[in-house]
Amino acid sequence: MPIALHQNCDGVDWTAVCGLLKEAGMSFHAPEMHRRAFEAAYSVAFAYDGGALIGCGRALSDGVYQTALYDIAVLPRYQGSGVGRRLVEALLAGLGECNVILYASPGKEGFYRKLGFREMKTGMARFVRADAMAEKGFTD
Ligand SMILES: CC(C)(COP(=O)(O)OP(=O)(O)OC[C@H]1O[C@@H](n2cnc3c(N)ncnc32)[C@H](O)[C@@H]1OP(=O)(O)O)[C@@H](O)C(=O)NCCC(=O)NCCS
Repeated sequence: MPIALHQNCDGVDWTAVCGLLKEAGMSFHAPEMHRRAFEAAYSVAFAYDGGALIGCGRALSDGVYQTALYDIAVLPRYQGSGVGRRLVEALLAGLGECNVILYASPGKEGFYRKLGFREMKTGMARFVRADAMAEKGFTD
């Protein structure tokens, strides 16, 4: 069955979102927090294999000139088959006039390079769990 993309939050199983992020090695929270975060996003994308959630992502944007991507994840057994690219392209459709920023998980920079992103020289972040993020390789 082909992988289907959904671009709204209707019927999303937020426990599955939590499990997906966890299995992909991403930060994860209580399902209700993911519901609030995805519902507050400018655009969302969920990838399904049949009824099973296998990928997700969301964009925050003013819809005019600035956008940021978060929670881009594909279940490990589905990685490397173009799902991540489809998620990012779907999230950014219609936002062509916007700058787009994100912080890549260490080791995933090549994925974003393929999608036209370049390393920033002055990126700054104030993380809530600063020590944990430094340990994971996001900051010095
Ligand atoms: C990063 C991630 C979303 C990529 O999704 P994916 O479905 O595996 O990627 P795709 O198959 O769409 O790859 C698109 C292109 O990027 C390349 N690519 C994918 N991951 C890459 C990596 N880690 N390094 C270099 N290139 C990579 C692919 O080879 C492909 O190249 P091609 O267009 O020349 O064939 C996925 O690996 C993932 O969920 N990882 C764990 C969670 C994570 O780190 N998310 C990113 C948070 S910032």
